[in-house]
Amino acid sequence: MTEHLYNKYVKNMTLEEKIAQLLQLAAPFYDEPGDHSEITGPMEELGIQSETVRNAGSVLGVAGAAKMMAVQKAHLANNRLGIPLLFMADIVHGFKTIFPIPLAIGSSWNPELAKQSAEIAAREAAVSGLHVTFAPMVDLIRDPRWGRVMESTGEDPYLNGVFAKAFVQGFQGDDLAGDTSRVAACVKHFAAYGAAEGGRDYNTVDLSERQLREYYLPAYKKALDAGAEMVMTSFNIVDGVPATGNRKLLRDLLRGEWGFEGVIISDWASIKEMVAHGAAEDDKEAAFKAIRAGVDIDMMTTSYLHHLPELVDEGLVDEAWIDEAVLRILRLKEKLGLFDNPMRGADPVREKEIVYSAEHRQAARKLAEKSCVLLKNEGVLPLRGEQRVALIGPFADSGDILGWWSWTGSKETAVKLSDAMRAVTDNPDQLMVAAGSGVDSITDTQKEEALIAAAGADVIVLAVGESSHMSGEGGSRTNIRLPDAQLELIRLMKGLGKPVAIVLFNGRPLDLHGVYDQADAVLEAWFPGSEGGAALADLLYGKVNPSGRLTMSFPNSVGQVPVYYNSFSTGRPKPAVEDENRYVSKYIDSPNEPLLPFGYGLSYTTFAYEGLTLSSDTIKEDQPLEVKVRVTNTGRMSGTETVQLYVRDISGEVVRPVKELKDFRQLELAPGESSEVIFFLEEKQLRYHHSDLSLSSDRGQFQVYAGGNSRDVQTAGFRLLK
Ligand code: IFM
Repeated sequence: MTEHLYNKYVKNMTLEEKIAQLLQLAAPFYDEPGDHSEITGPMEELGIQSETVRNAGSVLGVAGAAKMMAVQKAHLANNRLGIPLLFMADIVHGFKTIFPIPLAIGSSWNPELAKQSAEIAAREAAVSGLHVTFAPMVDLIRDPRWGRVMESTGEDPYLNGVFAKAFVQGFQGDDLAGDTSRVAACVKHFAAYGAAEGGRDYNTVDLSERQLREYYLPAYKKALDAGAEMVMTSFNIVDGVPATGNRKLLRDLLRGEWGFEGVIISDWASIKEMVAHGAAEDDKEAAFKAIRAGVDIDMMTTSYLHHLPELVDEGLVDEAWIDEAVLRILRLKEKLGLFDNPMRGADPVREKEIVYSAEHRQAARKLAEKSCVLLKNEGVLPLRGEQRVALIGPFADSGDILGWWSWTGSKETAVKLSDAMRAVTDNPDQLMVAAGSGVDSITDTQKEEALIAAAGADVIVLAVGESSHMSGEGGSRTNIRLPDAQLELIRLMKGLGKPVAIVLFNGRPLDLHGVYDQADAVLEAWFPGSEGGAALADLLYGKVNPSGRLTMSFPNSVGQVPVYYNSFSTGRPKPAVEDENRYVSKYIDSPNEPLLPFGYGLSYTTFAYEGLTLSSDTIKEDQPLEVKVRVTNTGRMSGTETVQLYVRDISGEVVRPVKELKDFRQLELAPGESSEVIFFLEEKQLRYHHSDLSLSSDRGQFQVYAGGNSRDVQTAGFRLLK
């Protein structure tokens, strides 16, 4: 399949030209004075000659059709064999039209909309000259201190897999060469980057292989089964070996066992970082370990460039490994159609029409509506059009609502909450707006302005949260409360005795002390993207009924972290009813349970569950179980309910989680309307990794649960017969 590429290119390339194909440089190497792009890692003087830049195989972070075309043209004019450059970048939740952050997209429980968001991101990125996006990020996350939880869809392996597939299909479509409005997906970060100890970015990961396979790997596998063309290695160690030099992980598992034939790229400088890890004596050994493990592209270090020639000379690296890596990169270029059409989708005229179009912004607004989660509501929301509202807080009139990884987006054009509320209320003159505080500072003048704004109001809406720099890469925190200044603002407003609704902008589950207890209503907006303000105004005024559901638990306090729904029972589980027994697994100063569990979210209507029934009290390998439950909208507004199906394997060869999500269904129900939901549960959904790493189910007793979140459920039991 690659013979023609070998004969035409690889066979005729010098070793230096081959090695340069494996090098990825960031945009500044291609910049004109005045250009700027996102730099996420240390970028020391790399000592790179212009000759090398000419031969490099790919570039990171050049975007904009005109710029890309100029760079590609210059590259082709200088590259001896006319091999086009591959343009890659992090288009994680939108290009110019920014969608909600992935953690929010997860909260929509709507893979169709997730797929559409990726398709639109691809369309905008491709017309602006990009070929590959470093997305989706599918790392399983359990620790909200980690800033990068905002990039994942949550704490559940099954749900993450559903979204991983949707994102890949949306980015890539079915035909990368024929459809130039798509980009190749690079799934990341392989593997288990989300399990960093203490939630500190780039920190140690230490998992058993069984845990890795059972909980962390499934979502990457789903992305690859959906056809993702590339994989990015993670910064962390996996079983003591940095992922980027981990032969067992990359060559044996990813390439061998899973049969992945696409391109593997290191994360930024992660080859060189093997030295700092203490897994390579020097840069040369790091290069050796990475190429031996099967890493094709070295992102932003010169480890390959400077050391592979010598390693080949010394006979330590077989040139055939380098040829294979080059071939994989050329094959991707061919798949993208770059040899025939090196400019591919880039088109400065169409770029102006397509990027940030009304249609795309409408899709972003819809997804923002679906991903906000109503966490509390004691009769304050929805607001009524005739009410006098004071909108106060550092996010009331702010464009910092896009979130991390929106470097191509523009805060200036984001729809602000204040503008959108003015457009929706019947009473725009009665909407008082004040900042009340900065994100992490408060002055007497700001307090005064807040008090003036609130004075004539019937209800106070507080728009508070984290700035986008407080999450994302390098954004780990030990204190996951709102900054003190904003907590003070909340107390000040609460003291006025008026109803208070809080809208939260943030990239992680927060410790909501001083927020949840103070407010009459809390609406989790996350970073809702370009159209966030518009979506929120519709939600606040009840033009749209909130339907988002959490995909990551909100802890009671940071001391409980990690706290996640699919945990184990322990040998001394805490009894459901509080008792005095000291010697059970519990805290003496906090509940074990999170404040808000996985799957949780309210609506302006209510839903009742009844009559959970199973088609049989046994299940066999060839005979799925039918699980039925009736759901009724018992409130006064139409609404969307996410019906969730969980299972517990009561006794296994290794201990099994107290609940595991197996399926879900979304229903639109009018007031009074009722619907019977039917799930089919098969034996294969009950399989898990045993201590010998084999995947199978065990006969015995299971419990099934259905409900609107992982805590409030109906339940019934069955036996698996084998
Ligand atoms: O894709 C990212 C990765 O997620 C973190 N390090 C930098 C890469 C390229 O920008």
